[in-house]
Amino acid sequence: MKKRVLSGVRATGKLHLGNYLGAVKGMMALQDDPQYETFYMVADLHTITTPYDPQELRKNRREIILDYLAAGLDPEKSIIFQQSEVPQHTELAFFFSSVTTIAKMQHLPTFKEKVKQYPEHATLALLNYPALMAADILAYKAELVPVGIDQEPHLEVAREIARRFNQDYGTDFPEPKRFKTVGEYIPSLTGEGKMSKSIEGSYINLSDNLETIKSKIAKIPTDSGKGTIHPAGKDTVYTSDAGTVSPGTGALMSFVHLFMGGDKRRELETQYETSGIRYGDVKKELSELIFAELAGFQGKRLELEANPEYVDLIIKKGNERARAAAENTIRDVKEKMGLL
Ligand code: TYM
Repeated sequence: MKKRVLSGVRATGKLHLGNYLGAVKGMMALQDDPQYETFYMVADLHTITTPYDPQELRKNRREIILDYLAAGLDPEKSIIFQQSEVPQHTELAFFFSSVTTIAKMQHLPTFKEKVKQYPEHATLALLNYPALMAADILAYKAELVPVGIDQEPHLEVAREIARRFNQDYGTDFPEPKRFKTVGEYIPSLTGEGKMSKSIEGSYINLSDNLETIKSKIAKIPTDSGKGTIHPAGKDTVYTSDAGTVSPGTGALMSFVHLFMGGDKRRELETQYETSGIRYGDVKKELSELIFAELAGFQGKRLELEANPEYVDLIIKKGNERARAAAENTIRDVKEKMGLL
């Protein structure tokens, strides 16, 4: 039997460059590997764990699927589906919540962040977010999960749940591992933290045109272009001649590395410590390279928008195939738990 892969994206808007490089690229690499059977969903149930608008959700969960297809997920190779259309996920999540302690969930960094962001919405659904995510993965007994580095704590919970269930009930859940990409952590354009849909000014959308990309890249808060570089731990720190640390320069260098290569980055770092960098030229070239990577996506997206019946059919078939696969797992789990 082929090894399985599962991944998902919340339905909070269109895909951004961080989702694409951190997750979708890995999803594509695995769908093209005949060793794997790939399940890719839109996580619409995870979207309702924080405040949301129903109209927007209905629109956004379709946008994500259009983005998946335009980016190159292939319904001939992957099962593309909507999480809420496969009720086995919520069923399994409830079973999993019986081996998950409240204390453990309260201490997860992702939970704490969301509670800080929405103090009035520290709900049970939010607390149970990682158990639902474990159910998404383990409903298919998936072994590999292509996601960005920010999802690692959730995968750790999924592994713990799998171990615990196997011990208590004799199930045969694998301990799922993250499939890493070079873009596992894409920084925010503001220079602070990671690129994120919830931080305005932090992201590039896959649908942005060249002008928009140029203006967003131009706004990365770089420094005078000259200073010193210290490799501090894992992260390089750029300190301009004025003596201030420049996180924006660090973010720019990450993008240079990804789109122009490691040699170009080293060349620019040498310039930073000697003659100084002319950011205008670098930012312009970088914007053009980012746009070039997205141009194919944008053409395909327009074609798909003009063909809603085709998209509907893919979703319908994907939902059916996912339900059939998840039902097999649920039946086995219920039997072992004494529910059948
Ligand atoms: P979400 O919707 O926050 O993000 C979707 C995917 O994009 C990755 N990502 C990034 N990667 C690199 N750099 C960034 N700046 C960046 N921002 C986002 C995320 O790591 C993720 O891979 N909990 C998940 C959704 C989910 C899921 C699942 C994923 C629900 N069930 C089961 C895998 C398996 C989430 O909130 O992703």
